[in-house]
Amino acid sequence: MTDNRPTIAIMTSGGDAPGMNAAIQGAYCNASELGYRVLGIRSGFTGLLEGDLFQLQDGDVKNIIQIGGTILGTSRCEEFQKETAQKQAADYCRKMGIQAVIIIGGDGSFAGAQKLADHGIGVVGIPATIDLDIGCSDYTIGFDTAVNSAMESIDKIRDTSRAHSCCSVIEVMGRRAGYIALWCGIANTAKTILVPEKQEMDSFIEHLKSIQFTDGTVIVAEGCGKAEEIAQKIQESLNIHTRANVLGFLQRGGSPTCKDRLYGCMMGAYAADLIHSGKRCHVVVSQNGEVSHMEITEALSMTKPFPDYLYHLNQVISKCN
Ligand code: ADP
Ligand code: F6P
Repeated sequence: MTDNRPTIAIMTSGGDAPGMNAAIQGAYCNASELGYRVLGIRSGFTGLLEGDLFQLQDGDVKNIIQIGGTILGTSRCEEFQKETAQKQAADYCRKMGIQAVIIIGGDGSFAGAQKLADHGIGVVGIPATIDLDIGCSDYTIGFDTAVNSAMESIDKIRDTSRAHSCCSVIEVMGRRAGYIALWCGIANTAKTILVPEKQEMDSFIEHLKSIQFTDGTVIVAEGCGKAEEIAQKIQESLNIHTRANVLGFLQRGGSPTCKDRLYGCMMGAYAADLIHSGKRCHVVVSQNGEVSHMEITEALSMTKPFPDYLYHLNQVISKCN
């Protein structure tokens, strides 16, 4: 029997984020309800270039909402930066009768989505990254799980660190964004934090000297340098016992929190609604807690102001601790 339903496709791209599976589930279920055939693209833009697609069925989204990572797989696809690859992918979508692609990822993935749209393929982006660094959206799927995982790990490191009166330098994820470091800086009462948005690498040793730092927690976002090197610098400059810890992948994996499941599911379903209402170059956003949408070009032009108040708050509370 031929399947005459209009076709859409879903991919996850860039760094995975807990809650991506909830977004796949929300998008698939709502699109099916609205009468679409839904294809899953494996491994992000790599899968699109290789034609690695399959028809999603109800069974594929059963029991996935509580699982971290992404059932579709993801990738960082250098090849897709090339115009020839973008055209090839768009031609392939046309050949497969794909009317629109739902792209779940960070701002890099949105930039790739825009290239597909430039070549005539409908796209709807869903913000998902543990970094919280997408200008157009208050919230990005995955941040809540990641920041809670980091906070719990830092609590544990802090217990043993305090028992030995030593300094722990803890490296958290965030190559270009310091939101995990900033939130944990407050939630774990770090003595100081280093984030890429502030250029304080040269002055932080002076700061630690000025507060007569002897022990406690220093949280470093990945983009500011390696925990091991920073720990060595502190040990040599202040002559205190210092240990380095890298949290790494344990922040990005794990079962999503209720917030990430809810936002994932809601934004996924909303993306299907957008396609159904004829939107073809848009992204789903959260603004003041409400799910909404905007054109992808506008979304990509936006930057998120760094919350200086929270940065200052960390400095204030660390003085009493
Ligand atoms: P994230 O989506 O988490 O920000 P990346 O920055 O790694 O992750 O981007 C994910 C993928 O999006 C890249 O590997 C690449 O395939 C695609 N991409 C990123 N920037 C562009 C661009 N300017 N043009 C085309 N594709 C891009
Ligand atoms: O997905 C975002 C992110 O986790 C950043 O926080 C981090 O800097 C980067 O990806 C690390 O990615 P990978 O180690 O997979 O290259």
